[in-house]
Amino acid sequence: MMMQITKPVSFENVVSMEDLSAQDVLSFIHEASDFKAGKQIELKRPVYAANLFFESSTRTHTSFEMAERKLGLQVVNFDPSNSSLSKGESMGDTIKTFQAIGVDVMAIRDRKNEYYKDLIADPNVHVGIANGGDGSGQHPSQSLLDMMTIYEEFGHFEGLKVAIVGDLTHSRVARSNMEVLTMLGAHVYFGGPKKWYTEEFAKYGEWLPIDELVSQMDVMMFLRVQHERIADDENGAFSAEKYHAMYGLTEDREQMMPEHSIIMHPAPVNRGVEIADSLVECDKSRIFPQMANGVFVRMAIMTSLLRYRDLVKEEY
Ligand code: CP
Repeated sequence: MMMQITKPVSFENVVSMEDLSAQDVLSFIHEASDFKAGKQIELKRPVYAANLFFESSTRTHTSFEMAERKLGLQVVNFDPSNSSLSKGESMGDTIKTFQAIGVDVMAIRDRKNEYYKDLIADPNVHVGIANGGDGSGQHPSQSLLDMMTIYEEFGHFEGLKVAIVGDLTHSRVARSNMEVLTMLGAHVYFGGPKKWYTEEFAKYGEWLPIDELVSQMDVMMFLRVQHERIADDENGAFSAEKYHAMYGLTEDREQMMPEHSIIMHPAPVNRGVEIADSLVECDKSRIFPQMANGVFVRMAIMTSLLRYRDLVKEEY
């Protein structure tokens, strides 16, 4: 799919990749690339943002904050461990409190799948919501930064072979990406332990052994083993060495990859498990460039929420 002239995106909320058309995804990539090239916006009035992360995060939280500051938004702090959540206040009332004190837009992460559905259906909630990840559901800002990174590399999606390898069951990145990559014309494959390759993934692509994937793919996208979402007995039986040998990107496997191919991972990386420590920053790795692109994608997401609320005065 060639990059087309895209129109600026305007969304009430950005919560799921399922809500975005191929054209919307290309528009977000286009706008994020413009921000990367130095685009700026001017606001009509002071605008306030808050980042409510009820589940831990390094990249998504800090890059939303960086994006908001680069756009000129005022960022209101929130620390869940020192908040009235400890007195039993609900997430919904916490969000309505931030709205009441004047916050215009928020990034939210929660461990509950589709936590955002009740919020966006509530007529009393009008703050703009960017989903920073919901349980094992969706992670739209990660998916968009992944698409931007692939587009920067190849200039198209049509016909690209992309393998998603690892802990599919617990991964919101796998779910978001298999749908959008298919929509954009890429061919999706899967790898990793077969117990995690269930029917929902089989609908999008076939499972192949890691040695077959590395020699054929344009993009090898690895996923973190999410021990915090895995039962204790399964964690107890887990061997990092065995996993790396059976499903990971070893130095030998990296040598089998086509010259033009790239390595991706949403991070945090379990070094030496999904990917050999020595390969995390190798020439083929786009792991840290993915993080850098995350700031620009999140600027584009926040700008779409601001446009919807008619808060953008000028763009240049
Ligand atoms: N990739 C990602 O979502 O990282 P964080 O959990 O650190 O935000």
